[in-house]
Amino acid sequence: MYMSSPSGPSSIPVTTTTHRQHISTHRNRLHRLQNLPLLRLALTTTTVAISAHHNFESPPLLQHQRPSFPLLLRAISAAAAISLSSSTASLIILLLSSSAQTSSAQLSRGFYNSTCPNVEQLVRAAVTQKLQQTFVTAPATLRLFFHDCFVRGCDASVLLVSPANQAERNHPDDVSLAGDGFDTVVKAKAAVDSDPQCRNKVSCADILALATRDVVNLVGGPFYEVELGRRDGRISTIASVQHRLPGPDFNLDQLNSLFISNGLSQTDMIALSGGHTIGFSHCNKFSKRIGNRIDPTMNLQYALKLKQTCPVNVDPRVALALDPFTPQTFDNQYFKNLQQGMGLLSSDQVLFIDPRSRDTVNLFASNEQAFHDAFVTAITKLGRVGVKTGHQGEIRVDCSKVN
Ligand code: HEM
Repeated sequence: MYMSSPSGPSSIPVTTTTHRQHISTHRNRLHRLQNLPLLRLALTTTTVAISAHHNFESPPLLQHQRPSFPLLLRAISAAAAISLSSSTASLIILLLSSSAQTSSAQLSRGFYNSTCPNVEQLVRAAVTQKLQQTFVTAPATLRLFFHDCFVRGCDASVLLVSPANQAERNHPDDVSLAGDGFDTVVKAKAAVDSDPQCRNKVSCADILALATRDVVNLVGGPFYEVELGRRDGRISTIASVQHRLPGPDFNLDQLNSLFISNGLSQTDMIALSGGHTIGFSHCNKFSKRIGNRIDPTMNLQYALKLKQTCPVNVDPRVALALDPFTPQTFDNQYFKNLQQGMGLLSSDQVLFIDPRSRDTVNLFASNEQAFHDAFVTAITKLGRVGVKTGHQGEIRVDCSKVN
């Protein structure tokens, strides 16, 4: 349910919504419901969600509690209105690419042409339906794909559940993955398996890659062909997440070294950071920037608004839009925000502050097509990171459990 009220200082319109998030037992897929409120507020420069924004595999939201998608879009747009020698060089390139965890040789676009020819339509229909139920589907799925690929490769290891809470998803860097991303894969897998020809033929890793393409495209981003043929991993541990994901305080060198170790260039990293054009961040991820000393690289007005919305001892569930202006559209507003000192995370703002990456930010800010093209290149490379193919891994029957 959405509510608008002229509350808050300088009569900033506030839009809120409440609905429930659910928890499921992963083992038997019997879903228990829990009343966890979700409250989302769209402000002039901040869109806020108070949410149970954690990685429980969530079954469908109850119909009467779902905000309709068009309504959601209206609410948000109203808020947004306010406001070397060549042989040596190729040798180096070869060495670099073999040291990175990339292997794409066996991925192909038509991988399921004979085994499940309708896989793309089945996934897209399920994702479309899920997105109509809640917008969070889009950012949650995109972030889930990223976190999966950077840890043990794109093998759906992030989806595995461990009875003793020792899986990837239990690492502190993954606990804030929104449940709707996991649920998107569950729904899409059910849709694929509902076709007898396809049952247990399509990997969870490929379903996640396809669902990611679909959410990006459905919220205004580019359409691109997805390479397929990934197999599902059998290992998921907390330890494997350590130091494999970027932190919100990373500087450019730290960002680059992590992305390069995954076969991704600085330009790829900047384009993928453009994923922050949708979705939310909890206050604790940027609270250091708005403490007693406000981060001087941050737009002061923006910092003051953030301070109001994320005071000390704020409810830890409060989350704000990464792109305060068009948080539900996969546009290049994120890069325009960086030019104005309105990157929410320090790792966002550094892309404009550091002269080595500024030109690329300016290019993407001035040319949305250039951003979209670079994003497609980068996410295609991301989708190749450490993939298992052929006889490696397995095709999971249940994405949350090894066979
Ligand atoms: C470049 C380094 C990156 C850093 C430091 C970073 C960090 C973060 C942080 C701290 C959050 C907020 C999480 C929370 O509080 O719940 C977040 C959210 C998000 N990230 Fe990133 N991220 C990075 C790159 C990426 C990439 C490459 C993608 C995908 C292409 C991505 C997609 C997202 C999305 C969509 C959200 C919103 C999630 C939601 O609303 O549920 N991020 N990121």
